[in-house]
Amino acid sequence: MAPNPLAPTWLAEPGDANALAPGLWPAGSDRSADGQLTVGGVAASDLVNRFGTPLYVINEADVRARAAGVLAALRDAFAPIGAAVKVYYAGKAFLSTAVASWVAEEGLNIDVCSGGELAVALAAGVDASRLGFHGNNKSQAEIDRGVSVGIGAIVIDSEQEIGRVADAARRFGVIQPVRLRVNSGVHAHTHEFLATSHEDQKFGVPLDQVETLVAAIRSEDSLRFLGLHCHIGSQILAADGFAESATRLLAVHARLLQSGDVPELNLGGGFGIAYTSADEPAVLAEIAERIATAVAAECERLAIPVPSIAFEPGRYIIGPAGLTIYTVGTTKPVAVTVQDAGDDADATTATRLYVSVDGGMSDNVRTALYGAEYSARIANRASAASPALVRVAGKHCESGDIVVDAEYLPGDVAPGDLLAVPATGAYCWSLSSNYNYLPRPAVVAVRDGSATVIVRGESEHDLLAHDVGVADHDSTGQPAGPHEAGEHRA
Ligand SMILES: Cc1ncc(COP(=O)(O)O)c(C=O)c1O
Repeated sequence: MAPNPLAPTWLAEPGDANALAPGLWPAGSDRSADGQLTVGGVAASDLVNRFGTPLYVINEADVRARAAGVLAALRDAFAPIGAAVKVYYAGKAFLSTAVASWVAEEGLNIDVCSGGELAVALAAGVDASRLGFHGNNKSQAEIDRGVSVGIGAIVIDSEQEIGRVADAARRFGVIQPVRLRVNSGVHAHTHEFLATSHEDQKFGVPLDQVETLVAAIRSEDSLRFLGLHCHIGSQILAADGFAESATRLLAVHARLLQSGDVPELNLGGGFGIAYTSADEPAVLAEIAERIATAVAAECERLAIPVPSIAFEPGRYIIGPAGLTIYTVGTTKPVAVTVQDAGDDADATTATRLYVSVDGGMSDNVRTALYGAEYSARIANRASAASPALVRVAGKHCESGDIVVDAEYLPGDVAPGDLLAVPATGAYCWSLSSNYNYLPRPAVVAVRDGSATVIVRGESEHDLLAHDVGVADHDSTGQPAGPHEAGEHRA
């Protein structure tokens, strides 16, 4: 049969629309004898019976293995060039006390970028010395909190922050280690990178201001300069952008060494993952080796010692370990006019099946926000029906409320089916909202056949809790009733 002309060119019609593409699903995900999707040894319908939908599911063993694997791959790649490696888990991808504990137990540090993320990492019991603090506009209160708890490093992002951090360190009687975030002019995405002399963005300081600002940092008795920091983008599938950025930073790093210590270089995060069967991320060990080779060559050329290297991956660690389960509510075949290519273009029609689920842009805004591609599979059964091109839509009042833009599912997908969307561990819950007053779904960790709530799903009570006009509040504006702690919110 000819492929559906509405399908994007990268999406091939699958021989089996139940198959779980390798590398796309949390490690160990499978279908049981009755066709159900299982994750971490738990069947999708068991999870849904206990916790309802939508539901975020995270495979703890996979997160731990990926965290430990990143650390090992980077250390193995840099050991031959004599560089120590630190890995910070970028908490912005997904942060809860459970996840903070898992990655810390696997030997990672944690990177936070707000007072709230700092509070979560501290609540998890992670030692403050293992935290780094980012952000282009940290408040004085956030800086004070970080300095007062003994945070390992603050990444200074502007000239004004030098004085603010120095002042906080003086008031708390400490010497605060700091990095300086640099805008290297390299911006990378997937396999390509763009290198300019100046990049038009809000983060970091331009390369040509670095020496002046580091001199200002070094003039403050209450600050200790660790080195430069750079983050060149996200969902990067190749090493070239990292290597180019490291080369640019090392040239400045070498000049800074002439007037003082520069023990570290932090190359940020951004390692890409597979969101669809068409994505092929390079093996991390290979990317790491390419970066290490570039760093070694540049240090040799500049005749400087190889610094300690730090990285800050988020998505790579948690993204593939998570999925979201939805319930299908409605299906709607929509006939679309397709203009054939060619001069004597004839118009034909093709059908796209809209499959609407009980969540949407409030639990995964990435598709609407930047056209992210996702995949999906029916989770409660396997089906022998021929594949149909579907678009998975949410339930919000926006036509751009799409979860999966294009996917082939068995054509008999129907209301009541469970739909699982893989690779939603990163930047879905952390970017979630209450748009249309939808309660945020729970996050459940699965491991060895059991499931535990790690972030409680919101209830209607939570949704009304901040509205002071709701009768349920006492005179101070606090909700009068206890929060519901029940597992099932549907
Ligand atoms: C400074 C910094 N470090 C690390 C990350 C993590 O990126 P990723 O999750 O793509 O690895 C980000 C993401 O925006 C970032 O801004």
